Amino acid sequence: MIASSYVDVIIDGAHLRVSTELLEKYNQPGPRYTSYPTAPEWDDGFGETDLREVFKQADSNPNRAPLSLYFHLPFCESLCLYCGCNVVISKKHEIAIPYLDHLKREIDWTSREVSSSRQVEQLHWGGGTPTFLSPHQIEDLYSYINARFSFSDTPEVSIEIDPRVTSDDHLRALLRVGFNRVSLGIQDFNPLVQKTVHRIQSFADTRKLFDTCRKLGFESINVDLIYGLPHQTAESFTDTIDKIIEIAPDRIALFSYAHVPWMKKQQGSFARFLPEGMEKFRIFTRAIDRLTRAGYRYIGLDHFARPQDEICRAQDDRTLHRNFQGYTTKAGCDLYAMGVSSISGLEDAYAQNWRDLPSYYRAIDEGRWPVMRGARVSREDKLRRSVINRVLCHCSVVKREVERDFNITFDYHFAAELHRLKELEADGLVRLSEDRIEVAPLGRIFIRNIAMIFDAYLSAEKQQVFSKTL
Ligand SMILES: C[S@@+](CC[C@H](N)C(=O)[O-])C[C@H]1O[C@@H](n2cnc3c(N)ncnc32)[C@H](O)[C@@H]1O
Repeated sequence: MIASSYVDVIIDGAHLRVSTELLEKYNQPGPRYTSYPTAPEWDDGFGETDLREVFKQADSNPNRAPLSLYFHLPFCESLCLYCGCNVVISKKHEIAIPYLDHLKREIDWTSREVSSSRQVEQLHWGGGTPTFLSPHQIEDLYSYINARFSFSDTPEVSIEIDPRVTSDDHLRALLRVGFNRVSLGIQDFNPLVQKTVHRIQSFADTRKLFDTCRKLGFESINVDLIYGLPHQTAESFTDTIDKIIEIAPDRIALFSYAHVPWMKKQQGSFARFLPEGMEKFRIFTRAIDRLTRAGYRYIGLDHFARPQDEICRAQDDRTLHRNFQGYTTKAGCDLYAMGVSSISGLEDAYAQNWRDLPSYYRAIDEGRWPVMRGARVSREDKLRRSVINRVLCHCSVVKREVERDFNITFDYHFAAELHRLKELEADGLVRLSEDRIEVAPLGRIFIRNIAMIFDAYLSAEKQQVFSKTL
């Protein structure tokens, strides 16, 4: 018989020992819950009429929510082989011209659906690589948006930038128009990893761009890293983490590499070099250890922040929220998304645009909303979404709060879920008491598994479309 191996990890000051058996038990496919119901549950029959109805409903609600706006800019000059996002690869920058034309028409339509009293609290440009656009195109697009929506006095205005294609002119243009937050794609500094995933990016160049962002005065700088990339080891990734600690970003997103070769064929090319199971887990736990020792707080799932960051305060105050962009302090906004493949998330519905450019262009050229699928969110969905968000954001579910918001008796409504949670309690993931469910330190690592207990749609078969939870 093979003796069980284990990893020691310190979370929230607690020393934990995780065995291979426990890891294998919980490292199963599962959603990341940027929405609930999750995307595979959405309906292809949800179309333009539904979308208009949903927009109208959101805007006529007397307690209409402030706005969060998302714009998808899908272009990249080259393909990073790990990439799971919706991208269009081209070195020809003219490709952006017809895209911006169509996007502006969608912006016109969307802006007409929201009353001017609803202010933009949050705006994000994601991709792809938004800095594929020239500084001039950035200023032009931003002023187009600015002229059609009204902004609050303190909006969070953020953008994803790829340091390999972002110039100082880009950064100055971003600041001029109003961007106050940047997110730098890094992933890993190891040369072998970079070569294997086709993303060569030196520490020196990245650091130079980072320092320019600081000098120019962006309020917050985030970096994206991925653990679980081909050829990564706990030791090699520690070197990347140490370099990150040296540049000291305000926030760090440490994503688990999502291996979905059935959707992203190119990921198959390096499958045999992927660290898996215990090795991947070691990379993650070593990074947690290093980052928390350096003073970062582990917010949850894949996010870290400096203790003075407002995201930490929001977690303490139980006002932290989660949407398609991840964790946010701007709770209660309706998210209106524009651009190919983008996803809107309103109180009562989700809607996704066509994921390929020809379908997106065709719909707009024919004067139709480019919506591909969507979902209405039922009362029961909202209740479960709220419980899942509490798990992921607050690490606890206070039953009384849910009862107050949804007029239910928690123990009665969730009797089956509470029963299933007993097994997770025995494994040390949660603490169950009369008035609350609390995520134990070990549960911080397996937090998706805890959230999955409250997912009414998940079955063993449906689970398979997701990447693994760790
Ligand atoms: C939409 S991408 C934009 C980043 C920007 N284009 C760049 O490359 O610098 C945002 C982030 O998603 C993450 N990401 C992309 N594919 C992923 C995958 N398969 N698994 C986990 N994270 C992934 C990466 O960390 C990436 O920085």
